[in-house]
Amino acid sequence: MDGDMDIVTDSMDLSKSFIRQLECCSSTLQIHQAEIGDVGCVVWDAALVLAKYLELGHEKGSEDINGKKVIELGAGTGIVGLCAAIIGANVVITDLPQFLPLMQLNIDNNKSSIHSGHIEASVLSWNDEIDKLLPLPDYLIMSDVIYYEEDMQRDFRIKEIRQEDLDDVYRSDDIHVLRLKRK
Ligand SMILES: C[S@@+](CC[C@H](N)C(=O)[O-])C[C@H]1O[C@@H](n2cnc3c(N)ncnc32)[C@H](O)[C@@H]1O
Repeated sequence: MDGDMDIVTDSMDLSKSFIRQLECCSSTLQIHQAEIGDVGCVVWDAALVLAKYLELGHEKGSEDINGKKVIELGAGTGIVGLCAAIIGANVVITDLPQFLPLMQLNIDNNKSSIHSGHIEASVLSWNDEIDKLLPLPDYLIMSDVIYYEEDMQRDFRIKEIRQEDLDDVYRSDDIHVLRLKRK
């Protein structure tokens, strides 16, 4: 994503929010979205698709993040990371500073659904050193953040998850779930 977004500092008015619900592992996540704010103040469709794919991996045991350390980049509302924590992962959701209150609000409102997992919110700009989040996670997850495929191919093996391996309902031909593994 364009680095220019780093200079956006508008604060969000969290008194004007509306709720998005998502079922995850028999819990119902209640996610606050801000009426006014930068792009991350609402849940994007790609986040729903990724969250339900993580749930499916847990249920089927095909790729279970239960017990794994997970960092989410550009988390926005934090919905994907919250789903990962419900699954049982140890999660840090990260975004630019102005998103910290929204991420924290959503953690506070959903913590009763998190049992074996853990979640916290932290500020992390993609220009920052990742030192403060060491040790390195088992998984980095991100939804609806733009990347340059050529850069990725240099360092990662990229596999696209087949549509039929995504959740039956939460999938769409124009949303692609990619799994990247370091070369
Ligand atoms: C389109 S939103 C997606 C939000 C969320 N992942 C979702 O799918 O609902 C892109 C997110 O990337 C974050 N972002 C943009 N530039 C960033 C940067 N330089 N460092 C960290 N986060 C950034 C934005 O603040 C925003 O939350």
